[in-house]
Amino acid sequence: MTEHVTIGSCILYLADCRDVLASIGRVDACITDPPYGVTALEWDKQIRGWEKLIDAPHLWCFGSLRFFLGWKPEGWRYAQEIVWEKHNGSNNLSDRFRRVHELAVHFYRGEWAELHKETIYTHDATARAVRRKARPPHFGNIGPSSYVSEDGGPRMMRSVIYAPSCHGEAVHPTQKPVEIVSPLVQYSAAPGATVLDPFMGSGTTGVACAKIGRRFIGIENDPGYFDAACRRIEEAYSQADLFAGGVA
Ligand SMILES: C[S@@+](CC[C@H](N)C(=O)[O-])C[C@H]1O[C@@H](n2cnc3c(N)ncnc32)[C@H](O)[C@@H]1O
Repeated sequence: MTEHVTIGSCILYLADCRDVLASIGRVDACITDPPYGVTALEWDKQIRGWEKLIDAPHLWCFGSLRFFLGWKPEGWRYAQEIVWEKHNGSNNLSDRFRRVHELAVHFYRGEWAELHKETIYTHDATARAVRRKARPPHFGNIGPSSYVSEDGGPRMMRSVIYAPSCHGEAVHPTQKPVEIVSPLVQYSAAPGATVLDPFMGSGTTGVACAKIGRRFIGIENDPGYFDAACRRIEEAYSQADLFAGGVA
């Protein structure tokens, strides 16, 4: 029997994901940051075939372009990507541009039109009158329109998202900021839906789920990071936004 812990609406497995994934069943989205096999970190060994064991319509996967040039998840179709812009770089090689970004690439299965997708808005519009021309037929024949936006009003979230890296307070060497993961959770999983992270590390995807009212299944095979994930998710529940769409 695989060891697992339940915290609120999160189920956390201390296990090798390859031993657990086949028994997880259908989830609404998988959002993960797998080992890429590019650092000297002990756990960083690329795992093959895990994506075939995921039963979900959405897969968001963090990584570098170098990683994605050598890896295409079998059975998934490419949808889009977001760029996480960091405040400082992860390398300082003098013969390269200073690298201050990372990608999260979105893959999907099934009919795109039928998938749950929530448009995410930020509240930082600047006031202006917008006159939209009619769009050509290949964009769906949308007629002309106009609207006036307000300062601080909603605008569709941009695909380049700035968030400081967690360096000072990180409990994991490749910890992602919750601010980057939360919009991906919100976009792909309705309130109360289930998100899976088979390589959860310190549990950032679970923290995002706990804060905004999604169920979560996380798997991590390192006992130290597993404990850190449990602590962070417990803490997230104690600070959760009760009005963000709770889980029954
Ligand atoms: C890139 S890190 C994830 C970091 C995470 N996004 C965070 O914010 O903390 C990948 C994690 O996968 C774990 N891991 C590696 N192989 C695994 C496996 N076969 N099953 C489960 N976890 C694994 C590693 O121990 C590591 O913590």
